[in-house]
Amino acid sequence: MTTDATDALDTTVTDEAVNSLAGTADPRLRELLTGLVRHLHAFARETRLTQEEWERAVAFLTATGQTCTDTRQEFILLSDVLGLSMLVETLNGDRAPGATESTVLGPFHMTESPVRALGADIDLVGGGEPCVVSGRVLSRDGTPLPGALLDVWQADGNGFYDVQRPDVQPPGNGRGLFTADAEGRFWFRTCVPSPYPIPTDGPVGGLLRATGRHPYRPAHIHFIATAAGHTPVTTHIFVAGSDYLDSDAVFAVKPSLVQDFAETDDPALAGEFGVANPFRHARFDLVLERS
Ligand code: BEZ
Ligand code: FE
Repeated sequence: MTTDATDALDTTVTDEAVNSLAGTADPRLRELLTGLVRHLHAFARETRLTQEEWERAVAFLTATGQTCTDTRQEFILLSDVLGLSMLVETLNGDRAPGATESTVLGPFHMTESPVRALGADIDLVGGGEPCVVSGRVLSRDGTPLPGALLDVWQADGNGFYDVQRPDVQPPGNGRGLFTADAEGRFWFRTCVPSPYPIPTDGPVGGLLRATGRHPYRPAHIHFIATAAGHTPVTTHIFVAGSDYLDSDAVFAVKPSLVQDFAETDDPALAGEFGVANPFRHARFDLVLERS
């Protein structure tokens, strides 16, 4: 057993802690816990972690847990701002060429999106500049995927999700669960999203302030696309030209996900979507890999 700081390089305690895991029945759990213990110990040694710093870290993690509620996930937020969510996503989100790239889920997919008909407006409160989002859900070989499900969620024009402002936004504002038509097409109306700050009134906000970081995310709409026989994709589309595309607080931007929300003045399109000209229009396909 180590007795003082000069013994910190003695690995006895690390070996003992690792050996204590040897009886873990699940081999993957044993591997994960062993790696965690080794890296935590290496971190403490490398930084010469003090007792006071350890206590502050415990208090920070305690406050992070205490900030979580049914509609707030401060631990996911912590993982997001440390880049861990994006790293895990990238490690597991390897896509074949042509398939839509994935990105982080984020902490606001915690309610079921209301089922909506194609063409419905998910902006229930007139929260910003109207726009149409349309496209197709395709298999990687270009085959349309009729009946594909599209779960969509976005913040309102003030940068808040419905669950953050239940007094101002009705439940389901900015959310919709759509079913692609017989040709795999989808379309819905909404408002052009705007950049917004991730929640900063909890421990993660304190971390951002302590590190001089801004809390903003570039404007985006979230999607989960699911179709029979295919691997679902969790992704966003980002608004081309948005602020913060090059400094997303959660490191989630991928160039292939940036889309134009171009102003359109086409009577035929306006008629097709049931909107007044001119309107903003984002058009893109979601491409899934066979599972
Ligand atoms: C979001 O886009 O909803 C989000 C993602 C990560 C952290 C906070 C918010
Ligand atoms: Fe978001």
